[in-house]
Amino acid sequence: MDKKLLQELTKPIQADLTLFDKRLTDSLKGDSPLITSIAQHLLKSRGKRIRPAFLFLTSRAGEYYNDHTVSASLAIELIHTATLLHDDVVDNSELRRGDETVNFKWTNLISVLMGDYLFAKAFRLMVETESLELISAISAATERVSVGELRQIEETANYDLSEEEYLKIIADKTASLFAVACEAGPILFRKDQRERRRFADFGEKIGMAFQIADDLLDYIGDVRVTGKEPGNDVLTGKVTLPLIYTLHTSDKSTSREIVSILENGADKGGFNKVLKHITRAGGIDYTYRRAAEIAKEGLNRVKQLNDSVYFQSLQRMVDFTTSRAA
Ligand code: IPE
Ligand code: IPE
Ligand code: MG
Ligand code: MG
Repeated sequence: MDKKLLQELTKPIQADLTLFDKRLTDSLKGDSPLITSIAQHLLKSRGKRIRPAFLFLTSRAGEYYNDHTVSASLAIELIHTATLLHDDVVDNSELRRGDETVNFKWTNLISVLMGDYLFAKAFRLMVETESLELISAISAATERVSVGELRQIEETANYDLSEEEYLKIIADKTASLFAVACEAGPILFRKDQRERRRFADFGEKIGMAFQIADDLLDYIGDVRVTGKEPGNDVLTGKVTLPLIYTLHTSDKSTSREIVSILENGADKGGFNKVLKHITRAGGIDYTYRRAAEIAKEGLNRVKQLNDSVYFQSLQRMVDFTTSRAA
């Protein structure tokens, strides 16, 4: 599963993505030599552009595409990128998109400030949409990302964390941006709350499934495909679904053993031991299953959309999201 497949799945919106790329490059044309070199680094290693893809596909499938659609997608992708620059400082990550993180290549300080710069760019693009409703929805989503990231910090090394709490955290930190990406179409067309909710719910569920899959890849992903080193979550005390399931379903002595590995500051060897326990307990299978279930709930919200190449692509993108390797 890789960029090639993603490219194939997004064929119907190829022209939209090309325009998106062009405008993204233009909007990052440097205001200073440092900004230019970081922007080049970010553009070179480029992400999957999955939020813009969902934004374009939902807009096209619902016939909600207009002149402001691309600006909305750019604002959301820049906010996403800004949160990654901050998140990599928080998580002390060294690898992103198969390349050095900005904090590793430059410094934490530079990564934080560049993140702020990208937020500011995003605000300007958001205003270009001339939709107060959209500005309001994107702002609220951005606030939710911060709440989710802060909640996650609060729950670091809390090995009693429940699945419900975990789901709430990932809904805020990740699903919020997917939700607003999918809601952007109906918002720009001033549709009623009911229609907006349908699209937002779809995005919210897909975003949750996407983060569940990401958390799974932190256990079983291949760095050559994901571009991120696995094991980072265990090493930083981040408690995610494969571990939650395992701790809640294993016998007391196994759970105690896992927690003691984690509490003693797990290293690579500790990570492998924890992974073995999780695999044996069925934590990997369970996590795949939950991601698929939640994604299906999302698809149910938009099932009455007219059939079109966009809708078909959207459905395949949902599968990609839950069973991805990248
Ligand atoms: C990474 O998001 C952060 C998560 C919410 C899991 P992506 O996997 O969409 O990151 P890029 O933009 O493709 O690198
Ligand atoms: C997603 O969390 C980051 C944000 C939503 C800001 P992760 O910490 O799991 O993302 P990766 O694994 O670093 O991409
Ligand atoms: Mg991270
Ligand atoms: Mg992760």
